[in-house]
Amino acid sequence: MKPFIAITLITLILHGANDLPTPYPIAKNTNYVPGLGDIMGTIQIRHAKLWFAGKMKNWELAAYELDEIKEALDDTVKYHPNFKDKPIAKMIDSNTLQPTSQIEQAIKNKNYKEFVKSFDKLSDACTSCHQSSGYGFISIKRPTHSLISNQKF
Ligand code: HEC
Repeated sequence: MKPFIAITLITLILHGANDLPTPYPIAKNTNYVPGLGDIMGTIQIRHAKLWFAGKMKNWELAAYELDEIKEALDDTVKYHPNFKDKPIAKMIDSNTLQPTSQIEQAIKNKNYKEFVKSFDKLSDACTSCHQSSGYGFISIKRPTHSLISNQKF
């Protein structure tokens, strides 16, 4: 065995492959907290997907997207309970609990009419919270067409 290969093997055995230099930097910061604007951006995508899933009566996907929205709202409460002096956690609950549980019910009952009604209520709740937190210029509505062309609804 060539000395270089032997040394490499010994290094691997002693230190494990994790210690070898990598061609790209590995983020070691485990305290990463997503910004509120970033969480909201993912909520916006899920909000659009939820609509198209419901529109196509793909109730399984709709339930999944609603769950993702709820998780992201939970993250908002967890990471940004207060944002720029606004009690965001409380505002999330008072605005979104009712419409999200109505959508959940509509999905369970596969009731398209109720789905549409409660979806619009959720969109209004999003906008209303933006208004009361100083971001009234971010106005949420039903999407007209999907920007996501690589997924079947
Ligand atoms: C607690 C109140 C609250 C609720 C409820 C809420 N938002 Fe927001 N949203 C905010 C705040 C505050 C910002 C500004 C965050 C920032 O700039 O860091 C924001 C920002 C946004 C943005 C801008 C992000 C960007 O990158 O352009 C979008 C889009 C958005 N929200 C969508 C939604 C949708 C969709 C819902 C409902 C499903 C929703 N929000 C519910 C408070 C809320």
